[in-house]
Amino acid sequence: MRTKVCIIGGGPSGLLLSHILDANGIDNVVLERQSKDHVLSRIRAGVLEAGAAQLLRDHGLGERMDREGKAKDGTRILWQDRPDFFIDVKKWTGQQMMAYGQTNITEDLYAARERDCGAVVCDAKDVALHDIETDAPHVTYQKNGQRHRVHCRFIAGCDGFHGASRQAIPATHRREYERIYPFGWLGIMVEKPPLDDFIYAYHEDGMAMAAQRNPMLSRYYIQVPLSDTPEDWSDDRFWEALLHRFPVDVAKTIHTGPSIEKSIAPLRSFVSEPMRHGSLFLAGDAGHIVPPTGAKGLNLAISDVYYLQRALVAHFKDANDALLDDYSGTALMRIWAAENISWRLTKLLHVFPDEDPFDQKIRENDYDLLLTSEAAQHALAYEYIGLPYAT
Ligand code: APR
Ligand code: PHB
Repeated sequence: MRTKVCIIGGGPSGLLLSHILDANGIDNVVLERQSKDHVLSRIRAGVLEAGAAQLLRDHGLGERMDREGKAKDGTRILWQDRPDFFIDVKKWTGQQMMAYGQTNITEDLYAARERDCGAVVCDAKDVALHDIETDAPHVTYQKNGQRHRVHCRFIAGCDGFHGASRQAIPATHRREYERIYPFGWLGIMVEKPPLDDFIYAYHEDGMAMAAQRNPMLSRYYIQVPLSDTPEDWSDDRFWEALLHRFPVDVAKTIHTGPSIEKSIAPLRSFVSEPMRHGSLFLAGDAGHIVPPTGAKGLNLAISDVYYLQRALVAHFKDANDALLDDYSGTALMRIWAAENISWRLTKLLHVFPDEDPFDQKIRENDYDLLLTSEAAQHALAYEYIGLPYAT
């Protein structure tokens, strides 16, 4: 098979890139290792920056999001024995966030790919990249016991953190930056009405968080030690810990119930530079990971795709490679800004097992500054909503 862009990975990055390239008449194929049902069963965060929501609208993907999603002015922070705080995105930036689950976005993207007869090959096993340092790379994979080969001009590595694309870049040509956090997030999904707001709660036992998916689906998280497993946490134990970490007046408004999903995600910050090697371009989790605090993962995937699609369009339509050459540097500006804010929010809101009273005083001082300084409030809102896309 011959195509212009071979996209590895059918998560949000790969599907969105495929959708936009198709709309520009640029031939592409998506190779996804798993089945579509498997991809759609993953539960991820559900907060879109204004820029990401607008990009989806601009590409005809906003209809269900605008119908079922909920615009939000900001996010609340509650703090044991201190006043509440609101990250007032609307007030300081004029923008709103959109509460809309990643699973829904992936469903919308698959529906759009099917409607447009986009080429998405699921269950593509043993994907391997070849000749990526040349102008004529190719990708091989196995499906139903047969070996296939895709010849292309470019490869887009959209295959997430554990994918094959980043590993295809020789170790001598990439630099990796990483922070592993000494705790995870235990998340549950429950078919009960959620709280109205996204809320992070700081407590000496650890962070707790309230999120939402739709009027009858709530998502809650608590910080847990890395050594814990979901089996250690019965629903009763989870609710007891969660309610204890929220102030009493908020805790009594939380609708508890049996969980329909329960899992633990470790927290990691990770960036691999550069995002390009020869004819291979990385986008989304293939190139970087953020901890969930701040919900930047999906937003970064969308902004990477924004930069990558415009560069590919300029190459194929205008024979102009300037944006391709700038892709890595431009995308990394935004990526590091998101790494920065997610790392700082993670430090602010979690209890670290090895910290001492000095660390705690600094944390409290950071929070007090937010409570009292308009400059600090403005700066946080600006970083929290994400840098504007570079033009
Ligand atoms: N071959 C083909 N497909 C692969 C391979 C491979 N070797 N390895 C992984 N994949 C697929 C995965 O099955 C997955 O469907 O690539 C897809 C990558 O999707 P995501 O992990 O969702 O990554 P991305 O599309 O970049 O979206 C980033 O997802 O993980 C969240 O928080 C993250 O919200 C962010 C978003
Ligand atoms: C979620 O919607 O699951 C969510 C929201 C905000 C976060 C993390 C997760 O920071």
